[in-house]
Amino acid sequence: MTAPADTRMSVQLTVNGTEHEIELDTRTTLLDTLREHLKLTGTKKGCDHGQCGACTVIVNGERINSCLSLAVQHQGDEVTTIEGLGTPDNLHPMQAAFVKHDGYQCGYCTPGQICSAVSVLEEIRKGVPSHVTDDLTGTMQASNMEMRERMSGNICRCGAYSNIAEAMAEVAEA
Ligand code: FES
Ligand code: FES
Repeated sequence: MTAPADTRMSVQLTVNGTEHEIELDTRTTLLDTLREHLKLTGTKKGCDHGQCGACTVIVNGERINSCLSLAVQHQGDEVTTIEGLGTPDNLHPMQAAFVKHDGYQCGYCTPGQICSAVSVLEEIRKGVPSHVTDDLTGTMQASNMEMRERMSGNICRCGAYSNIAEAMAEVAEA
């Protein structure tokens, strides 16, 4: 059903380098905008309540749960989804590492895991502390504990956690 005109608004987003101007019901989440309007179905809807991380995308360089965010909050923002990180012929290093280390089984959580993992290494590189950072003065290390803590919002029902951590460690070392 089409929403009444007074609940609709034009939203401008740059997604994976392409500019879009979309007329949306103002109640539309960023997740539904990506999946239903832009047909970028790589980003997954798991819980739709901010509990699982399957919908993680990168907005202006930081990861967010796209199910918890309305598209109208992102006027002019730059969004990167799993489709924008790499292609089958030219994988992002994190995508290649997930393949190498078998960091998935069903794969449903994987796009969110990979977007999150890429952002986690960037957070560590920038020195953004987490709950387990014990030294706020030195150079932050991409330790197993740092990575596990930061990935705790990305749930994997298949339990691929150790392999995901190995994939992240390889990219962090590189
Ligand atoms: Fe967004 Fe689960 S679908 S956190
Ligand atoms: Fe199946 Fe994570 S690989 S939920």
